[in-house]
Amino acid sequence: MYAESIKQKFSEIFNHTPDLIVRAPGRINLIGEHTDYNDGFVLPAAIDKAIYFAISKRDDERCQLVSYDLNDSYEVSLDTLVKSEKGWANFLIGVVAELKAANYIIPNGFNVVFGGDVPLGAGLSSSAAVESGIGFALKQLYNLPLSSIDLALVAQKAEHNFAGVKCGIMDMFASIHGKEKSVIKLDCRDLTFQYFPFNTTQYTLVLCNSGVKHNLGDTEYNKRRAECEEGVAILQNAYPQVNSLRDVSISMLRSQSDKLSPTVYIRCRYVVEEISRVEEACQALLKDNFVTFGEKMYQTHNGLSQFYEVSCPELDFLVEQTFDDKNVLGARMMGGGFGGCTINLVKTKAVDSFLSRMAEGYEAKFGKELVSYKVAITNGVETI
Ligand code: GLA
Repeated sequence: MYAESIKQKFSEIFNHTPDLIVRAPGRINLIGEHTDYNDGFVLPAAIDKAIYFAISKRDDERCQLVSYDLNDSYEVSLDTLVKSEKGWANFLIGVVAELKAANYIIPNGFNVVFGGDVPLGAGLSSSAAVESGIGFALKQLYNLPLSSIDLALVAQKAEHNFAGVKCGIMDMFASIHGKEKSVIKLDCRDLTFQYFPFNTTQYTLVLCNSGVKHNLGDTEYNKRRAECEEGVAILQNAYPQVNSLRDVSISMLRSQSDKLSPTVYIRCRYVVEEISRVEEACQALLKDNFVTFGEKMYQTHNGLSQFYEVSCPELDFLVEQTFDDKNVLGARMMGGGFGGCTINLVKTKAVDSFLSRMAEGYEAKFGKELVSYKVAITNGVETI
């Protein structure tokens, strides 16, 4: 439906049909939070909420960008790809600029209309979907010799340099490599990955959107990353072989606790524990042991809330509300934090009662409507 509206808008504005329609999905992450930029493991998947692009080549240098959802447009030339005051445009300009910086030849400009149903600020990586989608569209349009891993790296650079968030690789990797009914176990140190089947009818993944937009997120996110780097730099004095928190065990960390500030210590402790937790959760998944998997999700939330301190009262409440619900196997905040969604592993037969109970509780506590989504796991970026 979205794809159709975007295509129609394109034809209205540019008076011709687009060369390509591309779908780039948002992502969930089952476990492994704030581990990607610490060279750890993550377990994301692409979902049935996506950004769609209608795009075609131009025969000059201009790039005409149209945001369908914001009803806004911006024009830029291939020779002057600088940051715009329009935040949304930077996700696209950033990718074009980073492709050029990596010496990919984009011979001419393009017209694009994009938009979709990935909710903004909900922790579902709408920005990574935009970056992955425009990168993929340009690769198809101009036959760029760009591997899917290089595409993810270019999208990540765009986020660093044009959106100012020093994000890890997880979001764009998932939007690009997603596979129907599978989660991706990604080793963020060497970018090798494995698909794990997540094809259960017994359990459903449900997202509860706190509606809190993570404004604080970008600065606090970069701060967490800096705290981890500080920890690594100190640990290297005792353990020169350490390159990242991936190389650190709890006993190594404990042995240096007097050298680290209390804050840096608890940040590092959370990350070291979370990296092992992803491994344990994957073992549980291989045995179809969803009970253990759910317990790990709760442990992750506790770590994110108490030690990494990236939760907020709304997210904590949404998780706590599931504690006494036997139909919920696990729940936790998802993504960077400070708002966005919780991810819940719920017995399928009880999803409806779960949804109404959560909505009633949220309304009573915060006077706000709770928007929730049942998610289906889909393929990654593709032409349609
Ligand atoms: C954001 C970042 C990711 C990752 C998560 C936390 O979504 O973009 O790279 O660090 O937060 O796991």
